[in-house]
Amino acid sequence: MVKKLNNNSLDLNDGCILSEVLHKAIDDSLSYLNDIDNKNVFHPLRSKDYTRFEEDLPWDSLPLQDSYEFFNRFILERHSPMNLHPGFYGWAMGGGNPVGILGGMLENMLNANVIGGMQISCLVEEQVLRWAKQLFCLPEIYTGLITGGCSEANLIALTVARNSKMPGDIPRKGLYDQPRSIFYASEQTHVSIHKALNILGVGDDNIRSIPVNEKYEIIPYELEKAIIEDLKLNYCPTGIIANCGSINTGAIDDISALSQIAKEYNIWLHVDGAFGVFAMLTDSYHYCLESLSLADSISFDFHKWMNMPYSSGCVLIKDRKTHYEAFQANGGYIEHSEPWFSDYGIALSRRFSALSIWLCLKTYGVRQIIDCVNKNIEQAKYLYQKMKNQTDWEMIMEPTLNVVCMRYVYGSDQTIMNEINKSIVSEINMKGRSFVTTTNINDCIYIRVCIINHRTTEQHINLLIQDLIEVGVKKRQHTINNNIIK
Ligand SMILES: Cc1ncc(COP(=O)(O)O)c(C=O)c1O
Repeated sequence: MVKKLNNNSLDLNDGCILSEVLHKAIDDSLSYLNDIDNKNVFHPLRSKDYTRFEEDLPWDSLPLQDSYEFFNRFILERHSPMNLHPGFYGWAMGGGNPVGILGGMLENMLNANVIGGMQISCLVEEQVLRWAKQLFCLPEIYTGLITGGCSEANLIALTVARNSKMPGDIPRKGLYDQPRSIFYASEQTHVSIHKALNILGVGDDNIRSIPVNEKYEIIPYELEKAIIEDLKLNYCPTGIIANCGSINTGAIDDISALSQIAKEYNIWLHVDGAFGVFAMLTDSYHYCLESLSLADSISFDFHKWMNMPYSSGCVLIKDRKTHYEAFQANGGYIEHSEPWFSDYGIALSRRFSALSIWLCLKTYGVRQIIDCVNKNIEQAKYLYQKMKNQTDWEMIMEPTLNVVCMRYVYGSDQTIMNEINKSIVSEINMKGRSFVTTTNINDCIYIRVCIINHRTTEQHINLLIQDLIEVGVKKRQHTINNNIIK
């Protein structure tokens, strides 16, 4: 029971009610999770779902039991489990975990604002950041921050890159009179890199899309060629972005080769490791781990392949001084003598997201989580082997990590083939056992399967294979019956 200390406060009149509702919410949440495998991974919204959320702003109070009941009936019951579900393979969304439920509750109970200073919450975040460096064998000198995700982490890292490698004093003088800043990324770079560089005033025209090899990795020779051309034009080559697990195919760029080029031309090297960087902790990819320390900055998400709660991204940066100068905000009502977390990122007020990460790492230990990463890599290989042997299916390549891209091939008209593959995805998703997405690579639509959930088993992969084959045949028949291809 929570006592009401003051009649005008927001504490509830009857503290027992809070306790009852919290207990019920815990029971309902656990039943929901325990039953997850029996639910449809996705179900479409109905018109009633929309009307339920059209109600005007509530000015008057409602008993907590009633608002919880509304949640239970119209949100929980109508929620598509999506990334919680073991059959979910869309985009790159982690499945969360039960320890995270506790983390979320405790985070909201403490409601700490982790700006900085002498708070226990800051010690927790500092420890999580130290653990992050230990995970990737990086030295202590890196500054770091827990962020709202990898997009934010990329924006922070690329801001530091720009300020570090452009000739002027950008935090004080701005971009006025600066040469043209150029960034280099693979054709396969994530949209968040473009977004970050647009925010930073670099612009798409100044991002060089470097061609990739058959494994979708940057070709170092092409990178160097582009840099030399820009130098001839007196532009300022500023940053290289390496993929460590590209979104489309899971490609890992050759970080060592890119770092040599970065060093030679005095360019910042950033590694976008959103989900893929955790593969480096498995035996198969351990050999790549050393190259990470060659980068000037690294970004990744705990909420993806570590299956921790949303939102928990992270950025680690080698250049403490430039990082601090890019974001520091000191003085006036927030004067402080030692740097705060808020001096290393965009937000002043910051959630205590580090608590859930801390609780998950402490409870599960790294080994258990990485075993799941390893399992997903094996599952991707298994799916690839099974689908490779199917007639009419074309695999884009043997998977590097946990992403398998394939398409149903029928006839030679790309437009029709693209439509067939899109409709295979829609139908599989409507069946409710598996959820996959499409991606566009060189104007071909591929069915993209990203296996990232710790709950996924070989049985789930077998169900997906069955769906892919059956729906593929059905779509071919439909194409024939409707004279779409003669
Ligand atoms: C390679 C890569 N970088 C960046 C991001 C953006 O991460 P977030 O969704 O956490 O902002 C993603 C998201 O999938 C990604 O795959």
